[in-house]
Amino acid sequence: MSLSGSLAILNCSQVVTLAGPSRPRAGAEMSQLSIVSPGALLVRDSRVATVGTNEQIQSSIDVNSTVVDAEGRIVTPGFVDAHTHPVFAGTRVDEFEERAKGATYQEIAARGGGIQSTVNKTRAASLNELVTTGRKYASWFLRGGTTTIEAKSGYGLTVEDEIKILRAIKRLNEETRLRYVPTFLGAHSIPDEYKSRRDDYVSLIIDEMLQRVSQERLAEFCDVFCEEKVFTNDESWRILSAARCNGLGLRMHADQLSLSGGAKLAAELSSTTADHLEHTDAEGIAAMKAANVQPVLLPASVYALGSARYPAARQMIDAGLAVILATDFNPGSSPTPSMSMVLSLAVTHMKMTAAEAITASTINAAYSLNRGDQIGSLEAGKIADFVIHDCADYRELSYFFGIEPAWRVYGGGEEVDLRRS
Ligand code: NIG
Ligand code: FE
Repeated sequence: MSLSGSLAILNCSQVVTLAGPSRPRAGAEMSQLSIVSPGALLVRDSRVATVGTNEQIQSSIDVNSTVVDAEGRIVTPGFVDAHTHPVFAGTRVDEFEERAKGATYQEIAARGGGIQSTVNKTRAASLNELVTTGRKYASWFLRGGTTTIEAKSGYGLTVEDEIKILRAIKRLNEETRLRYVPTFLGAHSIPDEYKSRRDDYVSLIIDEMLQRVSQERLAEFCDVFCEEKVFTNDESWRILSAARCNGLGLRMHADQLSLSGGAKLAAELSSTTADHLEHTDAEGIAAMKAANVQPVLLPASVYALGSARYPAARQMIDAGLAVILATDFNPGSSPTPSMSMVLSLAVTHMKMTAAEAITASTINAAYSLNRGDQIGSLEAGKIADFVIHDCADYRELSYFFGIEPAWRVYGGGEEVDLRRS
């Protein structure tokens, strides 16, 4: 797009706008996508100017406008992936092989593998090395049509290594076309050197890490892996309460591997989100509803762990919750940046509708990141982060799987070069 001109996307079979009330969409509202069909989109000064018919948009363009013919494809807002762990060194392909032979994720973690093995490699990596691998993953997200991610630390687990990861996230936000919303996850695991004195590690998080993170403004949220044998409910409560005092919003890994009361704790703390929730029961769902907690469901991690225990998405939507879908991109339990895969899993295994899955991965996710007024829908004045997908009906996004249907991806009205990004 020339700086002075506008950008018009014409001949879309559907422009899926997600226009609606200025808040997360709950329950039945999740089915309302506000589609303009056929439609067109006009972008001016990096923002959405108008969504309308071809005729309306054509009448607003001039010689300085850039015109893209979508040839009957669909347009949606860029995906907003509200739960990722995108900065780490190495992979865990060795453990992946062991799991194929029958070892479980928990068994591997108990013998010093799992998160700790990625921590060892990440501690040994420099900031520049983490940025270099982070760039590769940023390009994977963008090619899949994701334009914003929430990005957690959590593979450092010392003051300096956690800061190093958050600085890498800051640089990736500045240097790539992907938008990052940083979350501090020092409470991802008790590191080996603190195993016999876990209280000291909790104090290190509360007394030192949180201070540094908030002084240097390196995170907007704090997360805790609340789980039996990881961080207890009491420890999670102490860490998240301290995080709130330091000005951070709250998110939680809750009820992932067992029903430990994580969803209820998220409700007590008025956490913005409770994430995973594979084991959450009706009481947990009711507690989240009463406290306005948004559930973040991560079906790719269920799939990749070879489990069949998907979270109760239907009950959550039917209870009136504003559900979110995300990838949980990480080297252990969910090595995928693909929202398209997540949408497929959500519809196939969690019985969400194709429309609900799109709401969950755009506007609802944006609100959970305090960005609902800027991104997540295509409404006049919002940042023009959008995708032209190579399909003619939004339901195809969750129907075809194993492909990345993004045809063109735009961040702030600028086309992302998918070959070079
Ligand atoms: O969200 N549950 C904790 N954290 C990640 C797994 C991280 C890892 O295995 O490296 C998750 O699944
Ligand atoms: Fe996670």
